Amino acid sequence: MSVVAVLTAAGSGTRLGHALPKALVPVRGERLVVHAARSLLAARGPDGPLVDELVVTAPAEHLDDVVSALDAVRAETRAPVRVVPGGATRQASVAAGLAALPGALEADAVVLVHDAARPFAPPDLVERVAAAVRSGHGAVVPGLPVTDTVKRVGPADLTAAQPVLATVERADLRAVQTPQGFRLGLLRDAHDEAVAHAHDESLAATDDAGLVERLGLDVWVVPGDERAAKITTARDLRVAELLGDA
Ligand code: C5P
Repeated sequence: MSVVAVLTAAGSGTRLGHALPKALVPVRGERLVVHAARSLLAARGPDGPLVDELVVTAPAEHLDDVVSALDAVRAETRAPVRVVPGGATRQASVAAGLAALPGALEADAVVLVHDAARPFAPPDLVERVAAAVRSGHGAVVPGLPVTDTVKRVGPADLTAAQPVLATVERADLRAVQTPQGFRLGLLRDAHDEAVAHAHDESLAATDDAGLVERLGLDVWVVPGDERAAKITTARDLRVAELLGDA
């Protein structure tokens, strides 16, 4: 059974406050996209390297930079690594990555969708997600228990005092990471459905699993990993510089 991966690296990363797009920012001597590609390609399956093919989505104006950043990775692996232009949103970038996968792939192939913004996701996390899909779960996300108390407020205004509407039961919550794993046919259907309902903002999803949930299908959570933390702010980058994959 084939396993392919889409690595999203086409964001601008405005919240990082860096001149480069986030995926090209260096941490621990290597760009984020390079770390993330390496952890996907280091994962092992029952018969050797897990990932048969990797498609990376890049900002259109930095396509060549991402291609050359990945030269070393390409030389180290037997798996094809291709770079395609992403879209205006993360969802559009994932759709562009899926469209670039070989047409002959079987619908029950496993596709892993991973964010370059999580450069230190360890290979065993990648393996855990793929194994859960292979074992029969069509959509799998890694998640960690939430340690903060979480309260629901009204429409977002981060600058003003706001009344609390409710405290959410923390034990039931998981903070979800990437890589997320899917049967390829299922994820393609979920993205097609999202495009068909793109006019309806109430149906928007912030991750791929959210699109699958909208089809009324089950999504399964497997244990996540703190090392797969997302880099969003300059502080996150400093923490990643200090800790790396420790
Ligand atoms: O911006 P944020 O950190 O939430 O983005 C998550 C991931 O999605 C990042 O790896 C980013 O490069 C990717 N992305 C993308 N195309 C976009 C926006 C974000 O590939 N248009």
